[in-house]
Amino acid sequence: MKFFSTTLWPLAFQLFLGLEANAKPGFVGGVSRDSSQYTILTHDEYPTYSVRIREQHDDVCEAHSRQYTGWLDFEGKHMFFWYFDSQNDPVNDPLTLWLTGGPGVSSMIAGLFLELGPCRIKENGTGVDYHPYAWTKNTSMIFIDQPTGTGFSYADDGVELPSDSFMSAEDLYIFLYTFLTKVFPEKMEVPFHISGESYGGHYIPALSAEILKQNKIHPHRPQIPLQSVLIGNGFVSPMDTTFGYYETLCTTKPGVEAPVFNETRCTIIAETLPRCLYVHEACYKYPDEKLCKAADEICISIRDLYDQEAGAGSRDPYDITRKCEVEHLCYDGAVEVETYLNQPHILESLGIPDVLGNFSIESPQIVDNFKKGNDLYANTMEQVKYTLENGVDVLIYNGNLDLACNTAGNLRWTNALSWNGQAPFSAQDLKPWYTADEKGNKAQAGSFKEVLAYATPEASTKRRFAFVTVDKSGHMVPLQQPAVSLELYNRWIFGKPIDL
Ligand SMILES: *[C@@H]1O[C@H](CO)[C@@H](O)[C@H](O)[C@H]1NC(C)=O
Ligand SMILES: *[C@@H]1O[C@H](CO)[C@@H](O)[C@H](O)[C@H]1NC(C)=O
Ligand SMILES: *[C@@H]1O[C@H](CO)[C@@H](O)[C@H](O)[C@H]1NC(C)=O
Ligand SMILES: *[C@@H]1O[C@H](CO)[C@@H](O)[C@H](O)[C@H]1NC(C)=O
Repeated sequence: MKFFSTTLWPLAFQLFLGLEANAKPGFVGGVSRDSSQYTILTHDEYPTYSVRIREQHDDVCEAHSRQYTGWLDFEGKHMFFWYFDSQNDPVNDPLTLWLTGGPGVSSMIAGLFLELGPCRIKENGTGVDYHPYAWTKNTSMIFIDQPTGTGFSYADDGVELPSDSFMSAEDLYIFLYTFLTKVFPEKMEVPFHISGESYGGHYIPALSAEILKQNKIHPHRPQIPLQSVLIGNGFVSPMDTTFGYYETLCTTKPGVEAPVFNETRCTIIAETLPRCLYVHEACYKYPDEKLCKAADEICISIRDLYDQEAGAGSRDPYDITRKCEVEHLCYDGAVEVETYLNQPHILESLGIPDVLGNFSIESPQIVDNFKKGNDLYANTMEQVKYTLENGVDVLIYNGNLDLACNTAGNLRWTNALSWNGQAPFSAQDLKPWYTADEKGNKAQAGSFKEVLAYATPEASTKRRFAFVTVDKSGHMVPLQQPAVSLELYNRWIFGKPIDL
């Protein structure tokens, strides 16, 4: 584990104490750029929690708005964030959190610098430049490296790292509560949204449920104004994801001319699926580690038909029409972001202490912890239901060419989700939705269906639950369809119809 060494703690501590403390409540801008300087904000409710924050400038990320980085320091954990003001109206525009998946992949990689941040890595990896389809056009955004141990987030020696999405959600709640009450208290007045991708299908429902639970437990505390969650190519239900392998590889439905697999292989998948589902359902019902591992052993024989052939120069599990460029994440861009962030002047500007070592895309220790914590095999449908039933809208969107978190699997669990909107939702077929293409002509962007339903008998307002697909895109919709992704994002955030 990179950031976790015995020499780390004393140095990080020294750095922390060496700073000029500025314990003013609420954040004031104009922080010095000297690498030893941060503004430090403390919390009166939690005197041992504090936030180190400093302003960043366009030479690190051309953002066209104000940006800040720093850490929340609490209980021996140090959670890194990168915040951007909205480019439009930072005072009144909503605030959105972004969480990249993994588990254990940095939100700086897939999220900020590769997909939807205000600056993105250039084609040839020689630096970053302004991204015209950034999600910060009309919303302020915060990218967080979590679970602690991921990316630039680290823990002191001997501090336990999270081993499931629920433990990480507890830390994230503390982060958000501190951030929204102490760092940018004015953000309590604007709607808050949680977005993310991939393993975010676990993180996001766990976090929204945690926020809603904490809001209920502490009715006299400031309430985090959570309005909606957006899950892109999410890993919500592992069992359904495996089910979706058949449709993705054995039909032309993802938007391919011929199925990827031949009949021999498709027959193997079809004939293995019933047993995979049967045992995985048992794991959902009785989430015992041994039982879930047994389920996965059966189901993995389906996924391995493709995954064993995936890798650099070969099949790409994130886009069935694409060739994988580099091992694991398959995109050269991910490695280029890592190289970009590891340049000495960037590390210095961010104030990364030397002893933290280099930035790395993924934390193997978090992957290991989450395996042991049984998180990889669990589903978060219960938390999605809880989210809807406690006043928060849910958007599930999916690039159709993705296999790893495929459309068919996500459609299956959204139809199966037991809540008051289930019947009208599952009764609908998908219908097309449109955006304007580069020439301004109306072009089909994908398909969708949605319901507005009273989620509980007591509810006074209807909840919105939508499933939206994006054509010609794999796992990372904002990377592969930037204009469509921004259009969908803004339509959702500002409460417009999916198809205008
Ligand atoms: C988004 O920002 C643009 C200008 O940056 C503004 O014209 C537009 O009204 C904003 N949209 C919303 C929904 O606030
Ligand atoms: C990278 O691309 C930019 C233009 O996008 C070009 O100016 C630059 O020379 C390229 N650098 C390398 C090393 O290829
Ligand atoms: C089906 O595909 C597999 C893997 O590419 C190959 O080994 C097998 O020979 C193919 N079967 C037929 C009947 O084409
Ligand atoms: C850190 O990254 C830099 C630049 O990519 C590289 O030169 C250096 O060897 C790396 N150090 C370690 C300890 O991996």
